[in-house]
Amino acid sequence: MKTINISCRSGNSIIAFGELPELIRVYLPSERIVVVTDSNIYKYYKHLFKTISFDYIENSNVPFDEDTSIGNNDSSETNLITDKIIEIPAGEDSKSFETIEYIINKFIEFGVDRSYFILGFGGGVVCDITGFAASIFHRGLRFGFIPTTLLAQVDASIGGKNGINFNNIKNVCGIIRQPEYILSDYRTLQTLEQSEFENGLSEIIKTALVADSELYDIIEAFSDISNLQMLEQIIFRTAMAKAKIVESDETETGLRKILNFGHTFGHAVESIAKISHGRAVGIGMIKALELSVKLNNLDPEILIRVKKLLIKFNLPYEIEIDQKPLIDKILKDKKKESDKMNFILLDKIGKARIKEISIREISNNPEFC
Ligand SMILES: NC(=O)c1ccc[n+]([C@@H]2O[C@H](COP(=O)([O-])OP(=O)(O)OC[C@H]3O[C@@H](n4cnc5c(N)ncnc54)[C@H](O)[C@@H]3O)[C@@H](O)[C@H]2O)c1
Repeated sequence: MKTINISCRSGNSIIAFGELPELIRVYLPSERIVVVTDSNIYKYYKHLFKTISFDYIENSNVPFDEDTSIGNNDSSETNLITDKIIEIPAGEDSKSFETIEYIINKFIEFGVDRSYFILGFGGGVVCDITGFAASIFHRGLRFGFIPTTLLAQVDASIGGKNGINFNNIKNVCGIIRQPEYILSDYRTLQTLEQSEFENGLSEIIKTALVADSELYDIIEAFSDISNLQMLEQIIFRTAMAKAKIVESDETETGLRKILNFGHTFGHAVESIAKISHGRAVGIGMIKALELSVKLNNLDPEILIRVKKLLIKFNLPYEIEIDQKPLIDKILKDKKKESDKMNFILLDKIGKARIKEISIREISNNPEFC
């Protein structure tokens, strides 16, 4: 079992990589757990709450090239995590105050008190909503995650940002509070739709671009997603890169901002065009790279390389969208501070910088859209 420790002012976080049954046994408290999950995960993994054998996974979408079934296939072994399960509808629309209200009502119904541990079991949506609900109930309960999408394993579960959307503005309400544990098992990705797998690759490319040039080379060479050894290495390395950044700047006053590379434009596109987070970030990264070429003398060859990489992973790099709503949305982004906004520009692969740009310049300049 490999681990990464993140030590922050608001608390410490352990990312543990391994087989879920073992991770659960080692890290989860044996009682007083409430699981928050979504309808898809529950469909695939509900047996986990009765047994820790994963031999029932039949609907594998990602073509793994070896037998990756989790556990020892002894389904007679029952290891009930909990019978207190809160299932929310799958999808981005669940990141809302309505869902928070629903979860809080369930906490009350289950008699949850401060001795309880709240486990988010799902993708980035479940992680965000679980961390937020756990942090506001009784002024903060212990919580942790089992991230089940590639995007959540490399990004959304890590770093303690737990946000929800409001008024069609992404992540505009939220808190920063670290999950105690993140239990990461790439085998859960077996049931993921191919397109969801690709969404995760987009955030991996982002982390590599801003923080780890060797990781970028590894991803460029990564063409066979069924290569488990490589996938494991990529997930670990991306998580490590994010963990280091979070540890050095938990509250995003400096370095952590670079992880927002492509996100100002990406979030606006995601809200308006209603496309997935990963795909919107891919489009946002290309916009940020174009700006980097214009404003930061970035080698245009890098823009071409990243476009090729997105195409290789079936990710879009552009979208037809009206400029006016896009500008309006960008100006409502939470990264706006007074009359300016921070944009993340690339110096070279593996190195980014923060550039303040005035709102007037953004509003008057079509190249920001
Ligand atoms: N808090 C952060 O730091 C942070 C960072 C990046 C992204 N995010 C957020 O994460 C969200 C996107 O996360 P996501 O891409 O994981 O989306 P998601 O949580 O909506 O999951 C995508 C889909 O995959 C399904 N799914 C999840 N795991 C599965 C599995 N193992 N097998 C089968 N289906 C499965 C889900 O039910 C859903 O339909 C966005 O809301 C984004 O804002 C947060």
